[in-house]
Amino acid sequence: MVGSCSAGEEGQSSMYREYRHGAPVPSSRSLPCCSFAIRSDRGFIRQDKPREAAMSDDTLIDAAIAVRTRAYAPYSRFLVGAALHDADGHLFIGCNTENAAYPEGICAEGGAISAMVAAGGRRIADLVICGGGDRPCAPCGGCRQKIREFGAPGLRIRMVNPSGDVLLVRTLAELLPDAFGPEDLGAA
Ligand code: THU
Repeated sequence: MVGSCSAGEEGQSSMYREYRHGAPVPSSRSLPCCSFAIRSDRGFIRQDKPREAAMSDDTLIDAAIAVRTRAYAPYSRFLVGAALHDADGHLFIGCNTENAAYPEGICAEGGAISAMVAAGGRRIADLVICGGGDRPCAPCGGCRQKIREFGAPGLRIRMVNPSGDVLLVRTLAELLPDAFGPEDLGAA
């Protein structure tokens, strides 16, 4: 069964410290609560290293898979991880973070984009989204627009499963054709 999970904070009740369906939530020790570092099954990834220096072609896939395990999705039980490189090759990650007031939930892509912006990044160069199972987790409509704000039409978006298989590859323009973007505001 797919596990819905929540943050592994020490002070929370056991219900919120474990997946409701078996798998343990990664502890804050094994997955540091830091927007610049993450442990994946394939090793420790520093998020503040330039791509050329520290990353393989699979770095984003590894990071998306790893951060997906930290998703807080007790309501949908649908875990999503997202990892992106900005124009300087810095890595940023996000996972969906749901809320008892359902509309207040945050998508994985939005979290990764916010982390990039908070660190000073303004351009998404590459993006991987990891959902569960073998059906690609394509970004929702709202996320497509958020990606559009910081991504060029030719931005590659890969959708993978938790085994790292690439299920679908699309450009942003394919996912959001004839998009409204920042440039359009200047045209009025
Ligand atoms: N979700 C994402 O995080 N990204 C997407 O692009 C699709 C949907 C999340 C939102 C919600 O927490 C769960 O998946 C079910 O919709």
